Amino acid sequence: PRPILLTRHGESRDNVRGRIGGDTALSESGEIYAKKLANFVEKRLKSERTASIWTSTLQRTIITASPIVGFPKIQWRALDEINAGVCDGMTYEEIKRNMPEEYESRKKDALRYRYPRGESYLDVIQRLEPVIIELERQRAPVVVISHQAVLRALYGYFADRPLEEIPHIEVPLHTIIEIQMGVTGVEEKRYKLMD
Ligand code: F6P
Repeated sequence: PRPILLTRHGESRDNVRGRIGGDTALSESGEIYAKKLANFVEKRLKSERTASIWTSTLQRTIITASPIVGFPKIQWRALDEINAGVCDGMTYEEIKRNMPEEYESRKKDALRYRYPRGESYLDVIQRLEPVIIELERQRAPVVVISHQAVLRALYGYFADRPLEEIPHIEVPLHTIIEIQMGVTGVEEKRYKLMD
């Protein structure tokens, strides 16, 4: 059986300020996570010479992957975070205050709500299709370092969760979700590497 390890990037500077989207580097605690993750991956996949590390094209995932050595790394644009369009760089408070109607429509239906000039969860799910096909084709373990909305969609697919639940699945920072596809279905383990 070969594992797929899913993780968000280490905490980013925008995470600290509560800003969505963006392309910032890591906070100090995010940097520590990157090192702990590298340690974990090197131990967990020691004997797996063909494993690979997949990131998005945003610097917070690339930086998170950088302490991991000895495995090929691939960047996928399809693993980039949900595009928040005109709301990119805002806090949820600012959206609520400046664009209350957008805020309310998203709250009512986060699956279908599409940010003006951005994406919805359904859009993200659709663009992940080639990633999912490639993940299913791989025989070796893969470490996917991506973002909250994208990982909700990927995890929701593998864990066979109903679409409506996807925007609400918990995918905390600094936690590795390991999934294994077995004959009896999907087995899951979570490793919380720091608080
Ligand atoms: O806040 C981190 C983040 O990755 C944002 O960049 C993104 O817009 C958001 O999470 C997605 O989560 P939600 O759908 O709950 O807003």
